[in-house]
Amino acid sequence: MIPSLIAVLFSYLLGSVSFSVLLAKSLKGIDIRQHGSGNAGATNTLRVLGKGPAILVLILDVLKGIAAVWLGRWLGEGSEWVPALCGIAAIVGHNWPLYFRFRGGKGIATTIGVMATLALIPALYAGAIAILLIVFTRYVSLGSLIFVLLTPLFLWIFGEIGPYFWASLLICIFAFWRHRSNIVKLAQGRENKLGSKGGERV
Ligand code: G3P
Repeated sequence: MIPSLIAVLFSYLLGSVSFSVLLAKSLKGIDIRQHGSGNAGATNTLRVLGKGPAILVLILDVLKGIAAVWLGRWLGEGSEWVPALCGIAAIVGHNWPLYFRFRGGKGIATTIGVMATLALIPALYAGAIAILLIVFTRYVSLGSLIFVLLTPLFLWIFGEIGPYFWASLLICIFAFWRHRSNIVKLAQGRENKLGSKGGERV
């Protein structure tokens, strides 16, 4: 029990390390949450800092999710709930980071790491569809929402109604909550497209 709790707590602390905030501060001396869309994530890093830093943030944020799930597997004494909870804790940390006044990102890159480690095949199917959607529409937010929506759906289709399914549902709810402003802008046709320099702070 204690090792599992430590794993969940450590996952939250790991998720709280906001790489986009750290990189923007060290490269340009700015708070990324005051620029572009105001989101502390890879998409906004692309807008504000460019391709290289965005790819770095994406990789590091995905790795946070992978590391949290593996930590849960290591300390979870065979339970599937512990890695699932560790994954959720890392996403919560990313979205509401302890070290950055609880103002973080929308959790998608970390979710990719978590879901790909918990359930690779469903995540791959969902990811392939999401990437196609982003390529055709150039809306990252739309692809992100489709990814989090399809992951539990594919888990359900594959008959995997266990801890990973319930975790993916909760993660989906987090993502929709964090993308509220994106959903409104998508509906109004005002959402930023990939590659556009714009970005309305929310
Ligand atoms: O993962 C975040 C993405 O879906 C939207 O980011 O900065 O356009 O709100 P942003």
